[in-house]
Amino acid sequence: MAKVLPIAVLALLRPIMAQGQCDIEPMALEWTNTTVTADGLGVTRGIAIGIGTPTQIFALRPYTALNNTRVNNVANCGTTSNDTCIGGLGGIFDKDLSSSYSVSVKTNWNGSQVDTEETDGAYLYFNDRITFERRASVDGFPLVLDSTPYGGDYTGLPLGSNSSFTAAAVKSGVAPSEVLGLWTGSRSLDPADGLLVVGGYDESRVNGVFVHFPVSDSSTELPCPLQINVTSISYSDQRLMNETSRVRFCIEPYNQRFVLPPAVTAAFANATGQNSTLFPGDLHYSADSRPSGDLIVILDNGYSTTIPNFDVFTPLRGSDEYGRYSITNDTVVEAGLRDTRSDDPDSVIPALGGLFLTFNYLLIDYDNGTFSLAPAISANVSTSPALRTVCTPSPVPEPSEDTTRHRSRHA
Ligand SMILES: *[C@@H]1O[C@H](CO)[C@@H](O)[C@H](O)[C@H]1NC(C)=O
Ligand SMILES: *[C@@H]1O[C@H](CO)[C@@H](O)[C@H](O)[C@H]1NC(C)=O
Ligand SMILES: *[C@@H]1O[C@H](CO)[C@@H](O)[C@H](O)[C@H]1NC(C)=O
Ligand SMILES: *[C@@H]1O[C@H](CO)[C@@H](O)[C@H](O)[C@H]1NC(C)=O
Ligand SMILES: *[C@@H]1O[C@H](CO)[C@@H](O)[C@H](O)[C@H]1NC(C)=O
Ligand SMILES: *[C@@H]1O[C@H](CO)[C@@H](O)[C@H](O)[C@H]1NC(C)=O
Ligand SMILES: *[C@@H]1O[C@H](CO)[C@@H](O)[C@H](O)[C@H]1NC(C)=O
Ligand SMILES: *[C@@H]1O[C@H](CO)[C@@H](O)[C@H](O)[C@H]1NC(C)=O
Ligand SMILES: *[C@@H]1O[C@H](CO)[C@@H](O)[C@H](O)[C@H]1NC(C)=O
Ligand SMILES: *[C@@H]1O[C@H](CO)[C@@H](O)[C@H](O)[C@H]1NC(C)=O
Ligand SMILES: *[C@@H]1O[C@H](CO)[C@@H](O)[C@H](O)[C@H]1NC(C)=O
Ligand SMILES: *[C@@H]1O[C@H](CO)[C@@H](O)[C@H](O)[C@H]1NC(C)=O
Repeated sequence: MAKVLPIAVLALLRPIMAQGQCDIEPMALEWTNTTVTADGLGVTRGIAIGIGTPTQIFALRPYTALNNTRVNNVANCGTTSNDTCIGGLGGIFDKDLSSSYSVSVKTNWNGSQVDTEETDGAYLYFNDRITFERRASVDGFPLVLDSTPYGGDYTGLPLGSNSSFTAAAVKSGVAPSEVLGLWTGSRSLDPADGLLVVGGYDESRVNGVFVHFPVSDSSTELPCPLQINVTSISYSDQRLMNETSRVRFCIEPYNQRFVLPPAVTAAFANATGQNSTLFPGDLHYSADSRPSGDLIVILDNGYSTTIPNFDVFTPLRGSDEYGRYSITNDTVVEAGLRDTRSDDPDSVIPALGGLFLTFNYLLIDYDNGTFSLAPAISANVSTSPALRTVCTPSPVPEPSEDTTRHRSRHA
């Protein structure tokens, strides 16, 4: 048994422990192709985590609309051999196969604020061991099992402002702080893996200075924490937004595509010569009349992003029989925009998704009340990753002459 230290010694140790927290290396989680079915055929692109004992593998997309890690129930796919379904959902959890599974009562569960529950879903709050790629596992991690037939709309890795995922990572000593750095990677025809960093960011992907934005609270008009104002969207020198308008957008890595207001999507379709008789209801084009322009997005502070033509238009892709993302029809190209043309404008939440974040590095610091964007290096980098810690040591409770020394932020 360890000796019980006298109070005075404990007080002396505190600043050292606070400093120690920031000495932990940032945790890097790859956003990559991950095998999620038992037969090894179902592959999903996502952030790989393991749940349970023995480990069941998941590939989760980061989601700012969640504060807790939600995974799909094995029952959602009918059978464990339904690869299309399991691959599409990024893995399924069978609680009966995990010896470390422990069910909890929702009101006593130690996750964070309970997330919105869909009316057709059933939710089980539990704790289990979670295993990070190349990292130690953490016992008793708070998790939510979603039993919505064929999968709930809200499953993923929580990037919300009160994420129990980042809180548990820090509490368990696998990450120095809850600061998040994200490069989503690329889903173009020349794909690249992304990287989520907990406790810092990957400097090798950053190509310029970070521009800061305030975190929005949920009382603002859009239900998301990472909001920016867009003042201009143009395609091949044609403005798609009206001269003086300004549209509020969410930054949401969970979406891959852009979600533009219906009038802006219609202007894009017009500018690209989309034939809605030939391809109704989708922003599809014949491969032999592929549009040739780039898409440019400008924020109200002048921050500008160009999405090159090669990434805006790609051959038609979708899930194959294993739930894998692959080319399904090479005579058709699709634009990386959701077709909102016939949607009710009030029901559309404008969003800049993974495609935008292929060209922008995202740094989120909820404790500081800010998030930041910098131009990303989307080409292959040989020095990757170069992890940098962003961490403020917790303030020392007892007043002492020497506390300021530990306050500086090293970024
Ligand atoms: C996450 O928790 C924070 C703080 O409790 C809350 O403001 C926010 O709305 C929550 N996010 C979601 C998506 O529920
Ligand atoms: C597999 O899942 C799909 C939904 O993704 C569902 O339509 C189909 O019925 C399931 N097949 C079996 C055999 O359960
Ligand atoms: C986060 O969620 C926990 C649990 O619901 C709650 O006690 C805490 O106040 C929340 N934090 C913030 C910043 O709202
Ligand atoms: C949450 O509760 C579980 C089970 O009671 C426990 O093992 C775990 O350490 C707790 N986790 C956190 C982050 O508090
Ligand atoms: C967006 O613009 C509105 C004014 O139109 C302003 O109130 C709001 O703070 C801006 N939001 C951001 C995130 O800059
Ligand atoms: C531009 O303004 C006109 C007139 O108010 C409106 O009809 C049109 O939908 C607007 N276009 C966009 C892209 O918002
Ligand atoms: C459609 O594009 C043409 C030019 O290609 C332009 O003259 C026309 O104003 C556009 N219409 C709308 C509704 O944006
Ligand atoms: C759209 O496609 C239809 C069917 O192939 C064709 O008849 C029509 O001419 C096309 N429209 C344009 C503007 O190219
Ligand atoms: C991931 O898998 C898809 C097919 O499912 C493939 O097209 C892509 O090249 C793979 N990505 C990487 C980075 O290897
Ligand atoms: C590919 O798309 C074209 C145009 O919609 C269609 O005519 C063709 O049948 C499709 N091919 C396959 C293999 O689905
Ligand atoms: C914290 O917020 C301030 C502005 O409030 C900003 O200047 C600073 O760069 C932010 N720090 C980080 C690490 O984002
Ligand atoms: C990037 O690296 C991948 C895998 O090493 C390779 O397949 C791809 O062609 C490279 N892309 C470029 C633009 O060099």
